[in-house]
Amino acid sequence: MSDPSADIDKVLISEEEIRRRVGELASQVESDFAGRDLVVVGLLTGTLMFLADLVREIDLPLRLDFIGVSSYGDGTESCKLMFTKELKLDVVNRDVLLVDDILDTGKTLRAVINKLEGMTPRQVRTCVLLSKKARREYDIPADYIGFEISDEFVVGYGLDYAEKYRNLRHIGILKPELYS
Ligand code: IMP
Ligand code: MG
Repeated sequence: MSDPSADIDKVLISEEEIRRRVGELASQVESDFAGRDLVVVGLLTGTLMFLADLVREIDLPLRLDFIGVSSYGDGTESCKLMFTKELKLDVVNRDVLLVDDILDTGKTLRAVINKLEGMTPRQVRTCVLLSKKARREYDIPADYIGFEISDEFVVGYGLDYAEKYRNLRHIGILKPELYS
């Protein structure tokens, strides 16, 4: 198979820009959660790269866990949600930092925040690498946002199209002919 980066039409956010911004987010998290009992919860699978880079820059004692949530269908529209992995750690009275790759309509984060709030943590804060404000349908508080982007479908650095392109080092827009 050919190099997946050859399918990219335009690089939107370079590896270097991602690295710099992730460092800034980590510093903010570090000062906001210093002294707290922090549990970082990543959403599978798109947060893999972001989460790995982010937590390594956060010099605080923290716990790490995952929630699996996926939408039926593998295209560009998210539809019905299904939980594929439940949280394992106890978050009662703890500070939860919920991390996702991208905040689009807000449907995913709304469902996960509701679920987490039911576990009576001290607080739930959200951190997303990307946000597409133009497509928001639910009013979700995003406490930490890496980059605000326009209404375009992006892949790379964990983000997929039909489960591919997650391993690209940058975030980009696919060549239009690849969307079937
Ligand atoms: P929401 O539930 O509509 O906010 O969608 C959030 C989820 O949709 C993300 O966690 C992604 O898995 C997926 N998603 C939304 N926009 C994009 C995109 O541009 N590229 C890749 N995945 C996306
Ligand atoms: Mg996702």
